[in-house]
Amino acid sequence: MSENFEKTGNIKTGDTEVIRGLEGVVAAETDISYVDGVNGDLYDKGYNIHDLAGVCTYMEVAYLLLHGDLPTKAEGRTFRQQTINEMRLPSQVVKMMEIMPPHSHPMDVLRTVVSSLSNFDPECDDNSPASNKRKAIRLIAQIPTIVAHLYRIRRRESILSPDPHINMAANILYMINGKMPAEDHIRAMDQLLLLHADHGMNASTFAARVTASTHADMHAAVTSAIGTLKGPLHGGANERVMKMLKEINNVDEVEEYIDSMLAQGLRVMGFGHRVYKKEDPRARHLRKSSEMLFKDTSADKNFFSISHRIEDIVLAKKGIYPNVDFYSATVQHALGIPEEFYTTIFAASRISGWTAHILEQYANNRLIRPTS
Ligand code: ACO
Repeated sequence: MSENFEKTGNIKTGDTEVIRGLEGVVAAETDISYVDGVNGDLYDKGYNIHDLAGVCTYMEVAYLLLHGDLPTKAEGRTFRQQTINEMRLPSQVVKMMEIMPPHSHPMDVLRTVVSSLSNFDPECDDNSPASNKRKAIRLIAQIPTIVAHLYRIRRRESILSPDPHINMAANILYMINGKMPAEDHIRAMDQLLLLHADHGMNASTFAARVTASTHADMHAAVTSAIGTLKGPLHGGANERVMKMLKEINNVDEVEEYIDSMLAQGLRVMGFGHRVYKKEDPRARHLRKSSEMLFKDTSADKNFFSISHRIEDIVLAKKGIYPNVDFYSATVQHALGIPEEFYTTIFAASRISGWTAHILEQYANNRLIRPTS
């Protein structure tokens, strides 16, 4: 653990107070999602996440974020078809992925490739609402394909086209692993995508909105968001959770490992949150998925049991709860995704929230430009 995490304090000079990290500052009005930190609740367009998880699909929630309400059956079918139709990437973009250095981080490749897609987008310079909605759908469709293609390029395996007959979650697993996934894996991936789709004014969404507020194009705003998501204090934490789990051999080693981290003043990745004072509601569903996926595991170390023990110890010693990134690590591991790709899967879902926020920012824009 080499990252150095500083502690912050606000600075008051005369009448001016610098709110470091903008903690508690209301930076925008949005009706896309609401994080109730006191009660530990999350609402997407007014729907409690507990009512969406396990009932709706990720694509229905992506539709909800973009269009304002859940789709009817016919609307859902049309949206799914529109998205599937946009999943293919320009051949030049695939070539670009092939020549990227093999050691580059998948999030860096994703950021570069999404930025490059603006050059191939037929409506790149059209910032009208109708064009931006189409671009949003294209990005929601293309980011999962980028992730899956990159995975196979890294393994020198041929890339696979999306299957038009299966949903987004199934397609991601199919295009990565090259075989039709099991039903319980599709459900777990779909739920993971649904839970990550949006989350109030988080750092990457804020970055996207700042960029959009200059009237820059949607690809520019999403590129800012991807760069911001990568950081270990934000979406990059899930990858580090898995690295930590791999360092712990069994449940009996957990307490000593965590004690040693805390004694060194290190942060336990996947724990704590700026807004939630209670458990992150998304963690409840991911914990269940993780437990289900590890139930029949015999070959692997039981990462779920180790995670659960870490949760008990960190809560007892620091009073801190797991956030979305903690159990997302073990769910993704069980689905066969390597840890360096975890944050790209996060991005493959959060793109629906980012684009909804960008559309909202354009619709009622004022340049975001604070003072210092
Ligand atoms: N492990 C150990 N201690 C922690 C952790 C943690 N994960 N998180 C917070 N703390 C402690 C801090 O050391 C501090 O203690 P102190 O007052 O005794 O010094 C106290 O809790 C408050 O911490 P802050 O840094 O003020 O809280 P902040 O709101 O800035 O932090 C953050 C939020 C960045 C998420 C933090 O909890 C963290 O670093 N977590 C680990 C990284 C992580 O999991 N990020 C993913 C967040 S979810 C997402 O973005 C998708």
